[in-house]
Amino acid sequence: MRLTTEAQTVAAPQPTQGVLDRFTRPLQDLRISVTDRCNFRCVYCMPAEIYGERYKFLPKAQLLTFEEIARLARVFVKLGVQKLRLTGGEPLVRQDLHKLVALLNEVEGIDDLTLTTNGYLLPQQAEALWDAGLRRINISLDSLDEEVFQKMNGRGFSVQRVLEGIRAAEEVGFGPIKINAVVMKGVNDHTVVDLARFCKAKGYIVRFIEYMDVGNLNGWKLDNVVPSKEVIRRIREVMPLEAADKSYQGEVADRWRYADGSGEVGVISSVTEPFCGDCTRARLSPEGHLYTCLFASIGHDLRAPLRKGATDEELEDRIRGIWRVRDDRYSEERTLMTGPLPRKKVEMYHIGG
Ligand code: GTP
Ligand code: 5AD
Ligand code: SF4
Ligand code: SF4
Repeated sequence: MRLTTEAQTVAAPQPTQGVLDRFTRPLQDLRISVTDRCNFRCVYCMPAEIYGERYKFLPKAQLLTFEEIARLARVFVKLGVQKLRLTGGEPLVRQDLHKLVALLNEVEGIDDLTLTTNGYLLPQQAEALWDAGLRRINISLDSLDEEVFQKMNGRGFSVQRVLEGIRAAEEVGFGPIKINAVVMKGVNDHTVVDLARFCKAKGYIVRFIEYMDVGNLNGWKLDNVVPSKEVIRRIREVMPLEAADKSYQGEVADRWRYADGSGEVGVISSVTEPFCGDCTRARLSPEGHLYTCLFASIGHDLRAPLRKGATDEELEDRIRGIWRVRDDRYSEERTLMTGPLPRKKVEMYHIGG
């Protein structure tokens, strides 16, 4: 919360005028991708053979500035957004990201300001992010097995390096620390129990994510998916678990508590148990396009009106108009089809998962 003296006190923003989509889902969370660049080349997201060194990412002039992002965030709050998450690509490769965190931390009406990262640059940046007001971080780590992890991140980066990032985050005070692991059959599924055991001992909340058919280039097949039920079965064989309730409405992870009281583990089952019915998330791309679904084909340009001098009210109207007609439910539709739907989709590294 911001502290002000009485003389400085400014009127609090008006209570939000929320907006509902075609399935009466409110707009509550905004995931902001700050860059399409990444220092990793995860096989399920930016396969190295496609996104080589010469791949053309967005030029800097195309990216929203930090001030533009903060302005849009304020408009989104008026429409009901209470939760902001910074993503990428890899958000920590955007220069001076902590300055954006500081700006967003000043936005009235945000209950939760968070970040999803691969952890590689955390040793250098954890403290600046904390000082800027960030309090919660989700870090991706697919396996503790060096060989497996190096293969999955496509760049041969070591587990050790990510663990250093996690430790750095812990040391400056971030909590709870959540670890994201994408599970791919025959690639890392034999290492899930190990990762669960490690996180249990450390007090981290690991969430195992079903490999998804995001984007067009990762060669996804249903056969490569390990259903979350199977992941939970394997963990509970060794460490007994009890189902727990969601900690907030619209949470994508299903939670399980260790019966011995030593923490929890989660699963994100967007393939076998889609959660579109509760989806309150909008995604803003680095160049200022609004996507209403992770699997959307097109985004709606907010940067053009922003740079042409639109007022906050005009921007609000534009977003309201987009959200009102939203009828996305890709994961549910794909389940009905039992295969990826034949459509061009935005790439995951572009809108940050
Ligand atoms: P918390 O705020 O800690 O609950 O984080 P989160 O799980 O919402 O965010 P995170 O960035 O850690 O996402 C974890 C995984 O869930 C990523 O693989 C996301 O792609 C996936 N995910 C998040 N939101 C959605 C969604 O709306 N649809 C689908 N299909 N997957 C999602
Ligand atoms: N399937 C599931 N999760 C994915 N992520 C990236 N690509 C995929 C995919 N194809 C995850 C990352 C990170 C989050 C932002 O999205 O591992 O945890
Ligand atoms: Fe980079 Fe994250 Fe995609 Fe991996 S999943 S390539 S870390 S953006
Ligand atoms: Fe939301 Fe689209 Fe994911 Fe369904 S598939 S939960 S609508 S982002």
